[in-house]
Amino acid sequence: MKIEVAEKAGFCFGVDRAVKMAYELANKDGEHVTWGLLIHNKDVTDDLEKRGVPAVESVEAVHPGMQVLIRAHGVSEEIQSAIAERGAEIIDATCPYVKKIHRIVRKAHEAGRTVIICGDAAHPEVQGINGWCGNAAFVAGKEEDAEYFLQMDPEIPVTIVAQTTIQSKFLKNFTKILKKHFTNAEIFDTICSATAQRQKAAAELAARSDCMIVVGGKHSSNTRKLCDVCRDYCANTWCVENSKELNYYILQGIIPKNKNFKVGITAGASTPEAVIKEVCLTMAENNEMNFAEALEETLKPL
Ligand code: F3S
Repeated sequence: MKIEVAEKAGFCFGVDRAVKMAYELANKDGEHVTWGLLIHNKDVTDDLEKRGVPAVESVEAVHPGMQVLIRAHGVSEEIQSAIAERGAEIIDATCPYVKKIHRIVRKAHEAGRTVIICGDAAHPEVQGINGWCGNAAFVAGKEEDAEYFLQMDPEIPVTIVAQTTIQSKFLKNFTKILKKHFTNAEIFDTICSATAQRQKAAAELAARSDCMIVVGGKHSSNTRKLCDVCRDYCANTWCVENSKELNYYILQGIIPKNKNFKVGITAGASTPEAVIKEVCLTMAENNEMNFAEALEETLKPL
């Protein structure tokens, strides 16, 4: 068996920054919380809770003097103000790339433009972005949604932005249709390059693998998207949260013991390096590779 980890996998810049900021808070005196679960990784969020940085979901749970860390996805202006009004200090770990989208939509909204966000309406990042343009944006979740906008007056000035983690194919096809309709469209490709790089590396690896393992949280949208990308190139793609889940696929014989079998591994943006390494080691052990050989595979730079 050959195990190969995608050239780019795991924590992106924004998540890495937010996790480091949360652990810095854990080492400080006082009361600290994160606004919502910091990342889609239970091990990390449980550990933070143990170290005195639990997650809160409501403004009522915020007290004066508290430090509230905003996660990489960002929040709406309304939530940010509500936290500040409770007398808490905001520690803003919103990814700078998401912040940039907040500025774009705010400016567009103030200029009277109609904002369209390509992304998942239920995703906190999209809800946060919408909150910076008066919650007045339209959200398009798929290419076919373009049809809806074709009924609108072509003279309306529209500004299109994207959730940072959507597939570039979606944005490209969607904007291609809308560009022809709206005479005054402003299009910002705000897809994060970290996402595109991970998707490209995953696609390349999937194309030369017999089986792809995508490591990441079940609720992580970028992990789910990585799975979709991999499946386009390798039907034998499986998504696991950790090495324990991987054992299921091994026991079922889905990942056979076969010398010539090529297994590719990639991971979502909120998957810690330690979890990726564990998955690699489990895979190596399954294939009775010796420890040194397994470590060599696992310790490749991610
Ligand atoms: Fe930021 Fe891109 Fe990660 S937008 S949170 S670096 S996926």
